[in-house]
Amino acid sequence: MIVVLIGYMASGKTSIGKKLANKLSYDFIDLDDLIEEKEKLSVTQVFKSKGEVYFRNQEHLHLKEVLSSKNNIVLSVGGGTPCYSNNMDIIVNNIKVKSIYLKASITTLTEKLMRKKAQRPLIAHIETEAAMAEFIGKHLFERVQFYNQAEIVLTVDNKTKGDIVEDIILKLF
Ligand code: S3P
Repeated sequence: MIVVLIGYMASGKTSIGKKLANKLSYDFIDLDDLIEEKEKLSVTQVFKSKGEVYFRNQEHLHLKEVLSSKNNIVLSVGGGTPCYSNNMDIIVNNIKVKSIYLKASITTLTEKLMRKKAQRPLIAHIETEAAMAEFIGKHLFERVQFYNQAEIVLTVDNKTKGDIVEDIILKLF
């Protein structure tokens, strides 16, 4: 089985993914980390020096590569991954994959992203909490149509990471 965690930036995909992989004795792969390793640049540097289109292309190629070559992994993808190319189709049509949308509210995401925006090129420039909430609201409106195609949708607001991992395991088996 390949568990693919999707969701908006700061919804907890990476931290929950690591914990879940540990519980399942699976390897953990983060698609952004994979791109950073291959490019020898941070995601922010890739956006700056090569542009978003190049990044989206790499994201697509690495997603296909991982899904076709690995098994027994937890894969966390970037917040935008499901929304470009035919990535969401590739995810949901792979019979090895269980896809999980970690669904967080605009309030939760705004609060977290005000603290964690620096390494995220799409939102690093946003200064106030009100502007952040407005951006996330509009962005999510465009993206939920992709996220909602996941096999499992799990609300994560006000839950501990441990509880979320337990919830995921209950839904998977
Ligand atoms: C992005 C999310 C980021 C990263 C890049 C673009 C997005 O990943 O892939 O900054 O388009 O939402 P995280 O969701 O892990 O922050």
